[in-house]
Amino acid sequence: PVDIGQVLREHTREIPDFPKPGIAFKDLTPLFADAPAFQQVVDDIAERFRGRVDAVAGVEARGFIIGPPVALALGLPFVAVRKAGKLPGETLSQEYDLEYGSATIEISTDAVDAGDRVLVIDDVLATGGTAAAACALLERTGAKVTGIQMLMELAFLHGRDALGERDVHVLVSVDDD
Ligand code: PRP
Ligand code: MG
Repeated sequence: PVDIGQVLREHTREIPDFPKPGIAFKDLTPLFADAPAFQQVVDDIAERFRGRVDAVAGVEARGFIIGPPVALALGLPFVAVRKAGKLPGETLSQEYDLEYGSATIEISTDAVDAGDRVLVIDDVLATGGTAAAACALLERTGAKVTGIQMLMELAFLHGRDALGERDVHVLVSVDDD
């Protein structure tokens, strides 16, 4: 059987001091460049949630790379959780804290229906602020976030604490910085 965590580790590149000094950036470009490996990751995620969700939400920007192939593999709608000011029409907004300052994400009000079971996908779980805001946004429509899938978790930042009792899955957990 495929060790999917190992596949991801082998296709992740660490870039020191990006985007700021002291930050070791986890670059997934090698995964996206290797179709068989990317397919294995997409299949692993899709099979975990098959039959258990009604829509797949991806968080801009890198959730827009991983989310859509998972949605297509499951034959489900893709919901775009966007940075503020990008979506036309009626939107719901959610502000969240960053290390310095704050940010806002949005969804279209008609992107999900009340009662929909939604899988939230992004690349990295760090402090959990982004994922918690995405969940809060979707839940305000009456949808239920029944799963959260991240490729990687920076466990030393304890992002899971921001996500309460939600069902969080990661392919790789990084234990120290
Ligand atoms: C990064 C990453 C996650 C988020 C995780 O995105 O892609 O979305 O941070 O951090 P958190 O758990 O502390 O909220 P970023 O906001 O840098 O933007 P990008 O995806 O558009 O590059
Ligand atoms: Mg992001």
